[in-house]
Amino acid sequence: MEQRIGFIGMGNMATAMAQGFLRAGKVRPSQLYAYAPHQEKLRTRAKELGFTPCRSLAELIDCADLFLMCCKPGQIEGILGEIASRLPGKVLLSVAAGWSYDVYRPYLLPGTRFQFIMPNTPVMTGDGVLLFEDRHTLMEEERLQILELFRCLGMVRELPSALMGIGSTISGCGPAFVDLLLEAFADAAVKYGLPRSLAYELVSQTVLGSARLQLATGKHPAQLKDEVCSPGGTTILGVDALEKAGLRAACLQAVDAVMQGRH
Ligand SMILES: NC(=O)c1ccc[n+]([C@@H]2O[C@H](COP(=O)([O-])OP(=O)(O)OC[C@H]3O[C@@H](n4cnc5c(N)ncnc54)[C@H](OP(=O)(O)O)[C@@H]3O)[C@@H](O)[C@H]2O)c1
Repeated sequence: MEQRIGFIGMGNMATAMAQGFLRAGKVRPSQLYAYAPHQEKLRTRAKELGFTPCRSLAELIDCADLFLMCCKPGQIEGILGEIASRLPGKVLLSVAAGWSYDVYRPYLLPGTRFQFIMPNTPVMTGDGVLLFEDRHTLMEEERLQILELFRCLGMVRELPSALMGIGSTISGCGPAFVDLLLEAFADAAVKYGLPRSLAYELVSQTVLGSARLQLATGKHPAQLKDEVCSPGGTTILGVDALEKAGLRAACLQAVDAVMQGRH
């Protein structure tokens, strides 16, 4: 029987995942269901993506077998109070920051199959990162099926619980950090006369290409940087300026700030 996926919450992250699944052709719209309190907004999104909107959490639970908890962390406790008793025998994957296996455990009844995962917004185009906490209550066969399903959204990695925080900081928050870089380099390009839309295209494709090259070759980033910097050339002048401006320290401080904010 084909899988029926129920989204608990249909905001930014849920929409990105639904679009990713549909784009990859892994699921059909008729396999997707969602519930969110603002019904008008939900129905508008349902028309765009083709999923079935549900009028209550109870209706959603009856419609599907695999659920994605995609609401804000502060909303989960109340939602579990309503649905925990209906989850045994079903699979619940949760994407909410901080809601790991240990945090969920007291709320779930025996027989609920659960795993904490951390996607990022590029799942929408199949270029995401999906971290799966290695503690879970899934059956081995369904764990493998779920990993296979989510591979259409991007790179899938399993991480020990203790590393989910830093992993999520890099891949979950990372798109916002990279977006700042895209905007900053595009501003610089506009300053020297490139039309803005072309500036975004060139900067984004350069970031994408550099990242793909690193993944494809496995080369150390320093080696790839050295290959672009000819001795006495102009690129090294830009690298020198970035070092003097403290780019590396700024990146480390950004990650420190997120990690400290998690506690
Ligand atoms: N955004 C990211 O890049 C990212 C990355 C990784 C993980 N996450 C995680 O994804 C989760 C959602 O983030 P988001 O950015 O998608 O937030 P969002 O856009 O604000 O979406 C939250 C969704 O939850 C729904 N909701 C609120 N109360 C609910 C309830 N009682 N029952 C069911 N649904 C309810 C909201 O519905 P209404 O609009 O109708 O109120 C909305 O559809 C967060 O826990 C976050 O930690 C996000």
